[in-house]
Amino acid sequence: MSGTANIGVVGLAVMGSNLARNLASREGNTVAIYNRSHDKTETLVAEHPEAKFVPAYSYDEFAASLQKPRTAIIMVKAGGATDAVINALVEAFEPGDIIVDGGNALFTDTIRREKAVRETGINFVGAGISGGEEGALLGPSIMPGGSDESWVTLGPILKSIAAVAEGEPCVTHIGHDGAGHFVKMVHNGIEYADMQLIAEAYDLIRRATGKSPAEIADVFAEWNKGELESYLIEITAEVLRQMDADTGKPLVDVILDQAGAKGTGAWTVQTALNLGVPVSGIAEAVFARSLSSHPEQRSVSGELPGPSEGLSVEDTDEFIEQVRLALYASKIVAYSQGFDEIRAGAAEYNWTIDLGAVSKIWRGGCIIRAQFLNRIADAYAESPELSVLLTAPYFVDALGPAQAAWRHIVATAATAGIPAPAFASSLAYYDGLRADRLPAALVQGQRDFFGAHTYKRVDKEGTFHTLWSGDRSEVEAEDTH
Ligand SMILES: NC(=O)c1ccc[n+]([C@@H]2O[C@H](COP(=O)([O-])OP(=O)(O)OC[C@H]3O[C@@H](n4cnc5c(N)ncnc54)[C@H](OP(=O)(O)O)[C@@H]3O)[C@@H](O)[C@H]2O)c1
Repeated sequence: MSGTANIGVVGLAVMGSNLARNLASREGNTVAIYNRSHDKTETLVAEHPEAKFVPAYSYDEFAASLQKPRTAIIMVKAGGATDAVINALVEAFEPGDIIVDGGNALFTDTIRREKAVRETGINFVGAGISGGEEGALLGPSIMPGGSDESWVTLGPILKSIAAVAEGEPCVTHIGHDGAGHFVKMVHNGIEYADMQLIAEAYDLIRRATGKSPAEIADVFAEWNKGELESYLIEITAEVLRQMDADTGKPLVDVILDQAGAKGTGAWTVQTALNLGVPVSGIAEAVFARSLSSHPEQRSVSGELPGPSEGLSVEDTDEFIEQVRLALYASKIVAYSQGFDEIRAGAAEYNWTIDLGAVSKIWRGGCIIRAQFLNRIADAYAESPELSVLLTAPYFVDALGPAQAAWRHIVATAATAGIPAPAFASSLAYYDGLRADRLPAALVQGQRDFFGAHTYKRVDKEGTFHTLWSGDRSEVEAEDTH
């Protein structure tokens, strides 16, 4: 006998319970729910009678409550818990059923799980879900991978609960097996960069102008009316305006300055290193959080010599505009690097990923939602094979007038001894791309000297080695890279 629910949710902590409520609020859905600890299931049923949940207290009961093909979304702690739930569902489900992992799984785990579950005839879909608890409740941005067959059943359900941006649901079938979780991982990496860049902008403005956090909140609120319009800029203004009830000070001044991380930024960088993609802006953002979180090192480093002069500017408005331009230019670099990583990942793992569609589903629901993503979608619509996003005409036009201010801000920060690692590394990446010649030629010479790693020449075909410890003549060689 088939059950009454068309969709189930396993894992009823904050994300799962909000997602279950979102599903239940949509026309035509009946939602079965299961959680390892029964109290969470009972609480959710009691607090939300309007959702008409179908509670289950064992995996068999959960399976029996679902219509066939059964579709269940897992929202549990990523890692071993996900494997435990998948194993239990595989036991209780039948071929043709669909198991969706909506947690923040590492994409290589998703590839492994998809392969193992597929052998049972059950479909497994790794789906990245962004937007935090509010997104899960009201409409997240969803990045599903998995088979085309699963997408037929799953697509309409996910479209019904996703955020809507400019009339379009923020969900698309990203690609097979781990493609969805890969794209979600890079989304989070870009989020790290975006947040760090905003933090650097705030720090520079505060130190240079002496404005209070509340006054800087006004600056961000103003910026949010222009090309920087985004959720992160909007919430930055909110955080800066917040006063601490206990002390009467700005909240930002009483929050300990040690940034936490849950690991998806580090995954983005580790994966980029493996793929050979320079995501330097994202990497600096991850490292900046690491540096902040070592108080023992910071406490012994406070006496290191720095510049004698602090930062002061004559024209405050002009400086703030220069910071805005530096932020915009660095943000273009961060997104360009992130999309570069997705392109490289797709090539490595044989996924067909529509980069324009990815930018569109990030316009709503998720943490990096921004107007700016429309420009990225336009760039890929115009040139789907674009190899470096920031070379699209729109971005070249934006970087032209921004670059002088960007250079000035990076130089000013360095001169005043203010760390702006994401601004500075984004600019270095930009100049690296622009350079006619890079000192990589010298690196190749050094590699050939100590390791006979060989080099190529600009003026003829072939691979060469100089007999450094002999007569220093050049010979043709095997290409050893
Ligand atoms: N929080 C966010 O903003 C956010 C945003 C995007 C994605 N995510 C991802 O969404 C997922 C859920 O996040 P969350 O914050 O709601 O919950 P969580 O704290 O990551 O996980 C708690 C849930 O996992 C269950 N669980 C843990 N070990 C288990 C096991 N061995 N077997 C069965 N269930 C087990 C818990 O069940 P019990 O109640 O029985 O302990 C509980 O339902 C995670 O993968 C997270 O990374 C979270």
